[in-house]
Amino acid sequence: MKRIDFIDLKAQYKAYKNEMDRALESVCEKASFIMGEDVGVLEERLSEFTGSKHAITCSSGTDALLLSLMALDVKPGDEVITTPFSFIATAEVIALLGAEPVFADIDEKTYNIDPAEIEKKITEKTKAIMPVALYGQPADMDKINSIADKHSLVVIEDACQSFGAEYKGKKSCNLSTIGCTSFFPSKPLGCYGDGGAVFTNDDEISAKIKSLRVHGQTKRYHHKYIGMNGRLDTIQAAVLNVKLEHFKEELKKRAEIASKYSEKLKNIQGIILPFVKNDRTSVFAQYSIRVKKRDEIIKKLNEAGIPTAIHYPVPMHLQEACGHLGYKEGDFPVSEAVSREIMSIPMGPFLKEDEL
Ligand SMILES: Cc1ncc(COP(=O)(O)O)c(C=O)c1O
Repeated sequence: MKRIDFIDLKAQYKAYKNEMDRALESVCEKASFIMGEDVGVLEERLSEFTGSKHAITCSSGTDALLLSLMALDVKPGDEVITTPFSFIATAEVIALLGAEPVFADIDEKTYNIDPAEIEKKITEKTKAIMPVALYGQPADMDKINSIADKHSLVVIEDACQSFGAEYKGKKSCNLSTIGCTSFFPSKPLGCYGDGGAVFTNDDEISAKIKSLRVHGQTKRYHHKYIGMNGRLDTIQAAVLNVKLEHFKEELKKRAEIASKYSEKLKNIQGIILPFVKNDRTSVFAQYSIRVKKRDEIIKKLNEAGIPTAIHYPVPMHLQEACGHLGYKEGDFPVSEAVSREIMSIPMGPFLKEDEL
């Protein structure tokens, strides 16, 4: 029996093989593996693509979030409000700096943080709000930005799943003071290892993040901040430069596949389809449906050679690692209900018609 891929990265490599091999060879020939020419070229192109004044590449989406919080001086005693329904990295970086992730429940239809819940969580310790564009659809950024303005907070968009998505005609990553994305291989724009980027229109934040990603240095061996090694490899930048050429076409294919899925599944009882608000787009990093009989459906699909995934089975407030925060079951009922019923099916621009 044929087993299909959850995301077909091999087909993507085959399609771009000539250009990709040439790009990789060129990096090896120049042996400029750290901060080589491709990194600068990529940053210019990312800035142009998103409309954000600064695009600062870095070692992963997690590090993009971490560098952003470090640039804001987030420290023990501070609070950052975020969603409990995301990949652990979103809350992990807050806790890693000794600050407290404060969760606010999600909207039942989009699965993104509910702005009305955010307001209830603001205290004098709140420093920032970190909405996630889950599955590739931006959150209610206008409402979130205006709450932040009212309370003098900074908004960091976790756009790790939404590079390429639009909100009211503007690109995700450029919807708030800071935007962060991930180039993990399975992301809509993915490299061949780990990678990420931070976006901002603020010159000071940009300069500080550029310094923090190279050990807080301002010039060689002169260090203004305690920073980290958070650079993107030149090889990964070269991969991304090739893939960016094809990205708009891939986004179109993703949208087509998502709408075909929705068309075919819409009349099946017991399935809640992805819901995208009409003032924004999703890049469908995942095509995720809600079902009651999840285990049974996953088993049957698996038997038919169709892989599935669950993003995410345990909301962050119930993760063992977040035990010190003192949350309990029942604290975020929408996130908990969705995490019991959500499942993702194969998705990607190279999913063939017969596989679909
Ligand atoms: C919402 C979200 N935040 C953060 C991350 C972390 O990105 P990375 O895996 O590149 O560190 C991911 C990626 O899995 C993600 O989906």
